[in-house]
Amino acid sequence: EELRADGLFLLPGAIDSHVHFRDPGYPHKETWRTGSAAAALGGVTTVFDMPNTSPATGTVEALRLKQKAAEASYCDFGIHGLLGDDTIERLEELLEAGVTSFKAFVGNTFGNLPAPTDGALLEGFETLAPLGIRTVVHAENSSILFRRQKKMQEAGRIDAMAHLAARPAVAEIEAIGRVLTLAEWTGARVHIAHHSAADSLFLLREAKRRGVDVTAETCPQYLLLNTGHMSKLGGVMRLNPPIREPRHNQPLWDALMDGTLDMIATDHAPHAPEEKTRESIWDCDCGFPGVETQMPLMLTEVNRGRATLMDYVRWSAVAPARAWGLYGTKGVIAPGAHADIAIVDMARQGVLSQNRLQSISRISPWHGRPVQGYPLHTLLRGRFVMREGRLVEDAVGWGRSVKAVQKMPTPRPRNTEHYSRAILETPPGVPPTA
Ligand code: NCD
Ligand code: ZN
Ligand code: ZN
Repeated sequence: EELRADGLFLLPGAIDSHVHFRDPGYPHKETWRTGSAAAALGGVTTVFDMPNTSPATGTVEALRLKQKAAEASYCDFGIHGLLGDDTIERLEELLEAGVTSFKAFVGNTFGNLPAPTDGALLEGFETLAPLGIRTVVHAENSSILFRRQKKMQEAGRIDAMAHLAARPAVAEIEAIGRVLTLAEWTGARVHIAHHSAADSLFLLREAKRRGVDVTAETCPQYLLLNTGHMSKLGGVMRLNPPIREPRHNQPLWDALMDGTLDMIATDHAPHAPEEKTRESIWDCDCGFPGVETQMPLMLTEVNRGRATLMDYVRWSAVAPARAWGLYGTKGVIAPGAHADIAIVDMARQGVLSQNRLQSISRISPWHGRPVQGYPLHTLLRGRFVMREGRLVEDAVGWGRSVKAVQKMPTPRPRNTEHYSRAILETPPGVPPTA
């Protein structure tokens, strides 16, 4: 039947660089099918899935399981492979088998993957730099986190503020500084996940000024939530990095406006409601779903005059398309690009409800929040995956890997005066060459 679009706006479908679809490993939290359906309902046409599934996406075998799960996808997808001490010898093999990019869990988080040692991170970057492949980093200093959390637990603290105390901004500043140092040294492309602290923005500004190819995301929760919202929500708000004090919100927004932060991602981190509502904060899993609520939340801010619709499109689609080598194919409405489209109603008002979420994780700090601006229809490569606000059920499996269309720009030639990798690989007595 006829589709009316008068008064609506046509945007490129959002590209979410950071989701956890939990498949394989945690089907009670999310499956690829439910996660990608949530994406379609949120106006999101491409996601990049994180490797902290079970098994973690650090072997070709584990990757095959994820690719199999993703056959049920309602949205297109990239897969971040795991960069860790155990995987740095397999990075090329994983790329060959279909990962689009890598993720390094420099800070401890859900899945308890060991942080790569600095040496392994350096070597991983050395391997990936000439290939032009970008690595996402969860940047928090794990030894700071472990010591602080232990202190909080010894003091008998079980409240949400103790989680914040266990993960101070300095843990993020330190890790971002370290990662940017290694990125500059090697020429590797990096991407800072869920940037949460105002205090680490100067590092991004300086690195960009120096020509480091770093991109960074922040998430609606760091822009719009703070400790003022924490008391009533307890474990639901437990998240890594933590929701911080009010002073962080506006500088993060300003950094998006001036390009220090490139994009919005959601860190869609679904857990079962009972895993989010235990008495002690330490027993509540970290993270909450977001892929479905990002667009209404951000469009509401556009309606409030905090940014233009074009700013939003830059953050939600254009910048991630550039970062992941999809520019020209995705993230834009232009000749030759895929018809990945979100048609939004900027006038429609409503209240977000966790009970209406498509995600299995029906627990959200956004529950009860009034919004204005909703995606109404989502098209993926020309086909409706959401229509009139409802999932098009038989579009299940229409999602494809973006590996086939990914084209990372050629890495910039580097004037390298360091030969660490060459020396490692050169027999003694033979002078290394650049
Ligand atoms: C994420 C998860 O649950 O996988 N949790 C979170 O608190 N953000 C992991 C992560 O992104 O750190
Ligand atoms: Zn993380
Ligand atoms: Zn995450």
